Amino acid sequence: MVAYDARNTNRWLNMDEIVASRLTRHRVPPVVAVPGILEDVSRGLFSTPRYMPPKYFYDERGSLLFDAICETPEYYPTRVEEALLRACAPDVIEQVRPRHIVEFGSGTARKTRHLFDACGRSGSAAAYWPFDVCETMLRDSGMRLVQEYDWLQVNALVGDYSGGLAGLPAREGRTLYLFLGGTIGNFTHEEAVAFLSEVRGLMRDGDALLLGADRIKDEDVLHMAYNDAAGVTAAFNLNLLNVLNREVDADFETGNFRHQAVFNGAASRIEMYLVSQCRQSVSIGALDRRLQLEAGERILTEISRKFSPEGLETLIARAGLAVRRHYAPDDGWYSLLLAGVGDAPVT
Ligand code: SAH
Ligand code: AVI
Repeated sequence: MVAYDARNTNRWLNMDEIVASRLTRHRVPPVVAVPGILEDVSRGLFSTPRYMPPKYFYDERGSLLFDAICETPEYYPTRVEEALLRACAPDVIEQVRPRHIVEFGSGTARKTRHLFDACGRSGSAAAYWPFDVCETMLRDSGMRLVQEYDWLQVNALVGDYSGGLAGLPAREGRTLYLFLGGTIGNFTHEEAVAFLSEVRGLMRDGDALLLGADRIKDEDVLHMAYNDAAGVTAAFNLNLLNVLNREVDADFETGNFRHQAVFNGAASRIEMYLVSQCRQSVSIGALDRRLQLEAGERILTEISRKFSPEGLETLIARAGLAVRRHYAPDDGWYSLLLAGVGDAPVT
């Protein structure tokens, strides 16, 4: 396929240029102050209990490792959500008929393809706005998408959604917001309510949010999903130390730490830790400080909350949204909720 270049009448565009013309990149400016990694390190690693925000997992290697987790036999959420999405995508698209699809924490957007397929079948071309902290992932997945879907316009949004959503570029027409993968479970309850309320603040009549969330289930299944036999989740967790070595000039020895993921039944969440294997002193060069760790001391790197159907519906209501559809498989392993604003049905 070739096309005529309207700006330069002397030449034809080649395939790469045609494809690239449907892929744009925008930086989303934070509208509230976002602590930098130095602040997060001094606040999180030097406090009790020690913790780091999970967004630092997702450098280029971490994003690839997350993708590899999704392929492990133990990590069921991706497969279960994908099957559910495949089944409900035509209904979602028919309900919302979006002109725009904005996805928070889009990653590879592999499951989102079911929504694009449903758009394609219904003859409605929507623009896709994937929003992620990992720019290389946005670029690579954006390139693949514009090659796969010859009608799709992809406007990649590079940014940190903890900096607020008011800096999103303006759009005309109905928007379907997506927050998939169970990433809402990586937020505390208060953070989840605040984030969904912000999404609610962006929404106009007819807009909708499709939220994916993992459900409470057998503890062994949960445990295995975060302790896969091939050690991919362990590598993903330990990679955080490589990020810290690079970004804050630290000298963590990954071999001196062990991955731990445990289910906290009382809080209904997986907790992921890096456990110090010995008494050690780690230099944080950019802070000119040393971190003293005892053998067995832990750094909390992620929570992954598991929900009941009622808990999810309450969360949606707390954010000022109304549930329109609650899709779930027969075994109740996962939920996709389609929510809108006000009482008016999404038509
Ligand atoms: N939605 C995808 C990916 C989930 S992994 C799926 O269902 O498979 C979580 C994604 O959120 C990653 O791509 C990560 O880079 C992104 N992410 C994490 N914290 C973020 C933040 N604060 N702002 C924007 N994106 C973030
Ligand atoms: C992105 N998020 C929903 C994943 C989860 O299951 O909480 C991240 C993850 N951590 C370990 N495995 C996968």
